[in-house]
Amino acid sequence: MKIVIGSDHAGYALKKEIRPLLDDMGHEVVDVGTESGDSADYADYGIPAAEMVARGEADRGIIICGTGIGMSISANKVKGIRCALVHDMFTAKATREHNNTNVLAMGERIVGPGVAQEIVRIWLETEFEGGRHERRVNKMMEYEKQQAST
Ligand code: RB5
Repeated sequence: MKIVIGSDHAGYALKKEIRPLLDDMGHEVVDVGTESGDSADYADYGIPAAEMVARGEADRGIIICGTGIGMSISANKVKGIRCALVHDMFTAKATREHNNTNVLAMGERIVGPGVAQEIVRIWLETEFEGGRHERRVNKMMEYEKQQAST
């Protein structure tokens, strides 16, 4: 898959820990920044990453800030994005199976690199279950479409 990654300064170190895993898994990776630990604003990276997924220029996105909260809120402002803030293996799996999330947000101040890598691996490898979950996801996306046309 083509994966877009992004972080602010508070997620930069964890983003660097995730990158080798994505390379090892054989994914193509695009990094939209930030490029250092210098202070940066999460929306400046979370929104462009989410837009790449929404436009079909990347299959999935992984975005990281201090808590993951700013990143997840930013990404969910982009039409077509279903971003989950995940800090454990159970929800990493469940949010793919039930919500068909296309962007994953994590907080560097919340999880260590080992747990974060496992979350990423599970989230990338888990398929959407469809069925009743598809109906529920479609309701959210239908609402989003209606909002855009009002
Ligand atoms: C930066 O200090 C921090 O506020 C940011 O990385 C993020 O946690 C916001 O949600």
